[in-house]
Amino acid sequence: MSLFPDGYDLITERVQIGDREFAITHPRAADELIDEDEYAHDERLPYWADLWPSGRILAAELADRDVRGDRVLELGAGLGLPSIVALARGARPLATDWYPIALEFARANARAAGLGPLATMEVDWAAPPDALRACGPFELIIGADVAYERRHADQLAPLIREIASPVTEVIIADPRRPDANALVGALRDAGWAYSRTERRAAGRPDEQGPIIYVHRFAPHPPAGSDSRTAG
Ligand SMILES: C[S@@+](CC[C@H](N)C(=O)[O-])C[C@H]1O[C@@H](n2cnc3c(N)ncnc32)[C@H](O)[C@@H]1O
Repeated sequence: MSLFPDGYDLITERVQIGDREFAITHPRAADELIDEDEYAHDERLPYWADLWPSGRILAAELADRDVRGDRVLELGAGLGLPSIVALARGARPLATDWYPIALEFARANARAAGLGPLATMEVDWAAPPDALRACGPFELIIGADVAYERRHADQLAPLIREIASPVTEVIIADPRRPDANALVGALRDAGWAYSRTERRAAGRPDEQGPIIYVHRFAPHPPAGSDSRTAG
């Protein structure tokens, strides 16, 4: 019996993250999942069903650091590759999205990788559940390609500020979307120490090109950091 939800034409992508290959299974064509009623309700589109270049880059970031034991909150997780990598590396991730079906795929992909259960929660940034607030504090809050509409900064900045503790670091992987600037600005204004690096995504380039920004918001200036601070 398949680990994955029934009724989808599926494709499996193999992704090398650090020293390990992950197989991520997802619907072949996200466009075919568009539901006009959902779109009319809150302009919801099934972007969860693709594995985006920023997700790969964020997953690689997690593979480069010691996250053992860390509580990691992923916002807009979609298929959840960064959360799955965090789980494989001994962290305690919570993958969230406003599409419950995305979370089903994320959990199934974690199971397919032979990992223990991946914790998930349905979270709409516009109306986050109280249960999310009770799950913290988190050492890391992460998101890949989560600020691609103007409304996203207005939703995510207050949510992240509310959920973050004084020791929380935030990492946002962003394919240089114009609408991400407002999120970066709001978090910088909130007092985190900001740095940005650039990584090149392999595979399918995003419409903005292969360069992905990795925005980091540290609670204190990282000691000895050689990351350049973006102006
Ligand atoms: C471009 S996709 C990126 C998915 C995944 N992070 C990746 O990189 O492969 C954006 C994700 O944000 C989710 N999303 C968009 N608006 C949201 C909202 N208001 N609340 C929660 N999730 C949302 C989408 O469902 C989707 O999974």
